[in-house]
Amino acid sequence: MGRTVVRLFLSLLCTQAIGWWSVPAATAQGAGPALALDFDLYRDTVEPVLLARRPGNARCVVCHSRGGGNAYLEPLSPGRESYDEEQSLRNFERVQRLVVPGAPTESILLMNPLAQEAGGSHWHGGGKHWTSQSEPEWQALARWVGSTTPTLDFDFYRDQVEPVLLTKRPGNARCVVCHSRGGGNAYLEPLSPGAESYDLEQSMRNFERIQRLVVPGAPLDSVLLANPLTEEAGGSHWHGGGKHWASQDAPEWQVLERWVQGATGGGAQ
Ligand code: HEC
Ligand code: HEC
Repeated sequence: MGRTVVRLFLSLLCTQAIGWWSVPAATAQGAGPALALDFDLYRDTVEPVLLARRPGNARCVVCHSRGGGNAYLEPLSPGRESYDEEQSLRNFERVQRLVVPGAPTESILLMNPLAQEAGGSHWHGGGKHWTSQSEPEWQALARWVGSTTPTLDFDFYRDQVEPVLLTKRPGNARCVVCHSRGGGNAYLEPLSPGAESYDLEQSMRNFERIQRLVVPGAPLDSVLLANPLTEEAGGSHWHGGGKHWASQDAPEWQVLERWVQGATGGGAQ
């Protein structure tokens, strides 16, 4: 607990010093998974908080839609008390940069208006709006920041997943042999004559198609992972191409799993 607070405090110090855009930059470089925030949940539960009146404080929108570096909200249209969908989308883009997906207490959107004694930041020009993390409004923001889905990363796909689909395994044909022939199951491009791997454009087309065979965050619900895995290990009952992995511990299966869980980056195999 103490350590978290110190870390938070340090990270906030840095944030204040260099500007809030350093927050997402820092996360993007980290090895953490790529996580996406939900727009509908934002619109239904977060935006109302940013528009709500609280005794003793101005509304977030009053100060944060005025232009200048802190304006992460659109101005409300004259006479309106809420945003239309396009305005909400623009807000969503900007507000996302003020949070760390999956980490409410590292998100300046939640920390700035929270009292320091409750774990919040040392200072917020707009005052403290919540005295505890259990306040319903703070909780609504935390639920949004906490409910993320992994996003599928192209670099990881190209450098680590695609080689698995091209690899020969004893006793089986390669995935690509059956799955690049045309017809309903062809989610891979044919390899160019003589080539043992794909060029960038081919990989991009494969990536588009193969996404339909996986459910981000749910490896065993993803037919790409379930079909070649034995039924005893949690895989599907039947796959016309046979079973290629007898356990979820198989290193190749784990590569696919990490991708579906949002692993990012290319490079090492
Ligand atoms: C009275 C005006 C005022 C109100 C009301 C206000 N803020 Fe602020 N806020 C500021 C000012 C000024 C800054 C810049 C200085 C600082 O960081 O404290 C700021 C900074 C921030 C930042 C840092 C990001 C940035 O754009 O620099 C966030 C996030 C934030 N406020 C969130 C909120 C939320 C959420 C609310 C409502 C619960 C709120 N603020 C209400 C004035 C306000
Ligand atoms: C010997 C040919 C063959 C090989 C090798 C093969 N498959 Fe298949 N695969 C099939 C056939 C046939 C089907 C369609 C019938 C079925 O669903 O079992 C299929 C279906 C699939 C589907 C469902 C496609 C869809 O559009 O619903 C996925 C995903 C899949 N295979 C993944 C793989 C992976 C990953 C590998 C390599 C580890 C692989 N397959 C190897 C023949 C093959």
